[in-house]
Amino acid sequence: MKKLIVPVIIVLIIIGVIFWHHNAGAPQYNNRGASPTKATSATFNKQQYSLTDPTSLWVVVNKLRPLDPIDYAPSDLVSVGNGQEMRAEAASALKSMIAAAGKQGLNLYAASGYRSYDTQVAAYGSMVKAGGVSYADSLSARPGYSEHQTGWAVDLGTGNCSIDNCFANTPAGEWVAANAYKYGFLLRYPKGLTSITGYDWESWHYRYVGVSLATELHNTNTLTLEQFFGLPPAPNYQ
Ligand code: DAL
Ligand code: ZN
Repeated sequence: MKKLIVPVIIVLIIIGVIFWHHNAGAPQYNNRGASPTKATSATFNKQQYSLTDPTSLWVVVNKLRPLDPIDYAPSDLVSVGNGQEMRAEAASALKSMIAAAGKQGLNLYAASGYRSYDTQVAAYGSMVKAGGVSYADSLSARPGYSEHQTGWAVDLGTGNCSIDNCFANTPAGEWVAANAYKYGFLLRYPKGLTSITGYDWESWHYRYVGVSLATELHNTNTLTLEQFFGLPPAPNYQ
């Protein structure tokens, strides 16, 4: 019997070493070839850019968040065609989106891009003249409160439909609604969310926020910047 003890111990040690080796290697082996972790809302860094700096890609402008300084003007405006301008990065993205739409046989153009403080004085003023202050406030920002003044926003048109909700039912409007996020654009004033955005539905107004944020908003089905960043709803001016 004693004779057996040594071989049994040796066998047990061998089995133990094999077992340990197998398990130690297992997790690494099993993970090999797994797809890289997909960026999710849990890993998305919401603090990559300022929400207040007017030059920031993620600046949030609404009725409670005027531009600071109020007469801010961007320094890198470039043409997006049709006599309109946007900041360089947004312009390049818009041109790509317009080209992609064109490949689908769809006409798409910038009806209104960057608008200066003074231009917004005139735009808002003409709305007040046409329908009074509450009418104007439902569809036009007061000077210093417009995304257009950041150079990141654009009003789109197709054919002879522009800056009007006729856009939503055009093939180009439908294509943009489905594909804008791929180019970094967000439909900024969606239907039914006036209590958050402060504006009526504007199927033509798109805000450039970059592909990463636009895709995150799309993937998480988040419709407004206010909701995504946990900012207060901005239905009215203070
Ligand atoms: N129409 C949008 C709200 C603007 O005037 O900026
Ligand atoms: Zn607009």
